[in-house]
Amino acid sequence: MDADVTGAVRGVLAESLAQRMSAAEAVDPLFAEDLAARVAEFTQDGGKLTRSRFVWWAMRACGGGSSVTWATLRIAAALELIQTCALVHDDVMDAAPVRRGRPSLHADVAGQYGGTVTGPRGARLGQAAAILAGDLALVWADDVVADTDLPSATARRVRDLWSTMRMEMVAGQYLDVQGEATSARSLARAVRAACLKSALYSVERPLGLGAALAGAAAATTRALCSVGRSIGLAFQLRDDLLDAFGDPHDTGKPSGGDVRSGKPTYLAAVAQARAETAGDRRALAVLHGTLGRADASDAELATVRDVFEATGARATVETRIERLTAQGLRRLDSVPLAPHAASRLGELLRSAAGTPADTEGGAPGDQVAVSLLPTTAEEEGCR
Ligand code: IPE
Ligand code: MG
Ligand code: MG
Ligand code: MG
Repeated sequence: MDADVTGAVRGVLAESLAQRMSAAEAVDPLFAEDLAARVAEFTQDGGKLTRSRFVWWAMRACGGGSSVTWATLRIAAALELIQTCALVHDDVMDAAPVRRGRPSLHADVAGQYGGTVTGPRGARLGQAAAILAGDLALVWADDVVADTDLPSATARRVRDLWSTMRMEMVAGQYLDVQGEATSARSLARAVRAACLKSALYSVERPLGLGAALAGAAAATTRALCSVGRSIGLAFQLRDDLLDAFGDPHDTGKPSGGDVRSGKPTYLAAVAQARAETAGDRRALAVLHGTLGRADASDAELATVRDVFEATGARATVETRIERLTAQGLRRLDSVPLAPHAASRLGELLRSAAGTPADTEGGAPGDQVAVSLLPTTAEEEGCR
């Protein structure tokens, strides 16, 4: 199983989704074709199964083996379904037309009915379908967890983590959209939203679930969670940088969506704080005039990117990612874990943060805005 974790998770997903597709078809063929099939396809195709690999390698690093293999693969499959729910709903909330290089689910449904249901009614149908599809993914995820046989103490820990994780993600998504609507752009708020909407369900909780499945000691679990918190925040900060500066061919998402929607990212918060501190009125005018304008032109987006660079915000975020990654990996090294699995976990964590091996600890830009940067993810209000 260690040799092909993603293949094994895909196998469990295929079986589980096939069962659910048959049930959906029995309920109603139109529902099955328009919604259930889209949920199944989205979950099976195109994702990197990052969360699955976290739960697997955390379980293995904590000494788990054949007695929990099957349960771990099922929890991994359920995490992928949670990810489907998160992304499908996220694209509605963010009005994002493209995901993984294809139309997002709401745009796809609106497109399917474009010939017959036009104008706002078509868009509304797409959004309603995506809300329902996300709900379906969540329900299926919960069913997979509920149907996973585990010894009762482990089952309790897994259930607790699972329900905490779902609520955290919802809380984070709310902070994100509320912050967007109210232009709440403080650094602390940006970090809190990033932790809740992404760091926890993407990294910390999958590691915690892996530890729970392996029956790890409390101290080991705590240490792994702390690793996950640091790397999880780095993971979302990387996502924010990629949104502004990444190549859509690589990310599968349009560039500049966060600027156009006025997302209260850490990147935008740092740019604003630094422009304020420096009394840079031109930079502030660019930020106020462009962040949150859905109709911002490509040239205006380029000007915002220039402000992100010129204020030092991009370098600050890059440095923060490198430090969080170094901090997380150092902590990982200090936990007594199975060496081979711990090293696989380390590689995976580093790659999630998008930090190349030779920049760990990051000298470049280290001098930037240190006063704006709290030292640990814990201090930044992840919890
Ligand atoms: C969303 O954050 C996190 C969740 C999906 C819960 P983003 O809105 O930044 O995610 P992307 O960039 O659209 O993937
Ligand atoms: Mg979002
Ligand atoms: Mg989004
Ligand atoms: Mg994003």
